[in-house]
Amino acid sequence: MPDAPAGALTFAPEYAAHDEPSFRAEFLADMARQSPLQARHARGVCVLRYDRRAFDVRALVGDALAAAGMLDRAALAARGDRLETLHDLVDPAHQAMDVSQQSAAARALYEMPAAFAALHERLLAEVVVPQLGLGPAHCQRTPTFRAFFPQAPGYPGETTYHNDLMLGHNPREVNVFVPLVRCEATRSLLLADLDDSLALLREFDHDFPRFGRATQTDADLMARCERICRPLEVDVGDIVVFDSRCLHAGPANRTALTRVTFDTRLLPVADLATQRNRYRGLGRRRASFTTGEYFSAHPIGGTPR
Ligand SMILES: [Fe+2]
Repeated sequence: MPDAPAGALTFAPEYAAHDEPSFRAEFLADMARQSPLQARHARGVCVLRYDRRAFDVRALVGDALAAAGMLDRAALAARGDRLETLHDLVDPAHQAMDVSQQSAAARALYEMPAAFAALHERLLAEVVVPQLGLGPAHCQRTPTFRAFFPQAPGYPGETTYHNDLMLGHNPREVNVFVPLVRCEATRSLLLADLDDSLALLREFDHDFPRFGRATQTDADLMARCERICRPLEVDVGDIVVFDSRCLHAGPANRTALTRVTFDTRLLPVADLATQRNRYRGLGRRRASFTTGEYFSAHPIGGTPR
């Protein structure tokens, strides 16, 4: 990191650099195209609703934290399973984030109760995929839970503006954000419209390593990201779907309540069928973002087109 003083950059994941010419050509075409989601929602973003009583993910989060020995389940139940109050119930040592922006409490949610897998698939198959109208889609097999505790203990570096493509994801993916608390201000996801996101990335020639470093070191870029990435104001029962090219950030939570959310992804069958590139994650695991691995082998939901 030659452009940052040693030790100044505490958030520095490996970023994707698509240099191979034919791979890059298709990648750039995907960055420039109108996606099927964008054709229906010009901002690249839409908000869906579901019946929170029929998909009670909050109770399963409580169960998972209790199974990990991090929570008195009865104490959370006495609060109506309102995850906003988790900071009162979880040991502070389990609230601090590591450099990958995960706390011990969030890591415990890698092991969700068995019932969650079916609930997650049903939520996508019955609510998200039909409402989106993009046809059947492969779904992320293991969603990612996030817990951001008040005052952001351990938050790594500056606000982590990015899109998931910078971490190796496929530009044809669709991101699905599911709040399990009322989200607002810094207790939320900051999200930019697609046009604003693409304009900024074009200025950086889609050079993700350079853009990623600049989000931690370049005050002008940080200010511009702050202007376009606005907090989602959503509650339990809402689902936010956005084009994977949209810039976003999980900011340091400066509110008095805990943020708990999960995010998952869809890969529409029709979009995958015309794509040659195969995308792969970076870092230690190098997850393959293909069907049968990161995504389900079989598509779910929707009416075949
Ligand atoms: Fe992300």
